[in-house]
Amino acid sequence: MKRVLANKVIFKGKTHPLSLVTFDSSGIPVSVEPFQSETESTVFYSGTLNLDTMTPSSSFLDLAAARHSVRGYTSQPVSDEDLDYIIRCARLAPSAVNRQPWHLLVVRDPLTASRLVKAYPGRDWFAAAPVHIVVCVDDSAAWVRPFDNHSHADIDTAIIAEHICLAAADRSLGTCWVCNFDPAVLSAELSLPDNRRPVVVIPLGHPAPDSTRPTVRRDISEIVSYI
Ligand SMILES: Cc1cc2nc3c(=O)[nH]c(=O)nc-3n(C[C@H](O)[C@H](O)[C@H](O)COP(=O)(O)O)c2cc1C
Repeated sequence: MKRVLANKVIFKGKTHPLSLVTFDSSGIPVSVEPFQSETESTVFYSGTLNLDTMTPSSSFLDLAAARHSVRGYTSQPVSDEDLDYIIRCARLAPSAVNRQPWHLLVVRDPLTASRLVKAYPGRDWFAAAPVHIVVCVDDSAAWVRPFDNHSHADIDTAIIAEHICLAAADRSLGTCWVCNFDPAVLSAELSLPDNRRPVVVIPLGHPAPDSTRPTVRRDISEIVSYI
């Protein structure tokens, strides 16, 4: 069943059972939200969308649109295979001068997780994730630009973190960037050595129903200029 409804398409995606995707005038997906009720005038696609051919595909645009902050996880464990896939994707992240100054601490043990969540308390959804990946950086290993002594540690770490989030979305798993944790508490609770500064904690798990907020983005014309 395939019928087009203005600039909105409902599809059975990888991340949600049924999602409403809204596109802007240039065909760029601007929001993905759960869609509950089916009507006569809906468009269904199974799998991800290729906007050019409107056939199932796995383009990067589809993947980027599918990734969103998931703030609700089921208790279903993350398989070793999925975790291995995500780590292998993370490893391929580029870094300044190829320094690879990062370290990924994968927390699967519930007791360790209960200590970790003290650094970001009061968020049940965060605590409920079956896996937490603490993305750390060794500041002494990161490249520093000689002109202005600017360290690229956080840039490098951000890239590997987003590889993790995109790889997880590719496996229908949910993630959320979390930086609003107390680094001193986290370092103490996990006994992190000085050369492992935590930059972002990524909860990872199977998305709970209704765990999605619409993706809102500024218009392309506002964020790009061509000269
Ligand atoms: C550097 C960074 C830090 C973030 N820290 C948090 C956080 O501490 N807690 C949280 O719930 N979301 C956090 N987020 C998620 C953002 O709120 C989210 O990415 C943004 O609202 C866009 O929504 P989307 O990820 O669903 O596209 C963070 C995102 C980034 C990139």
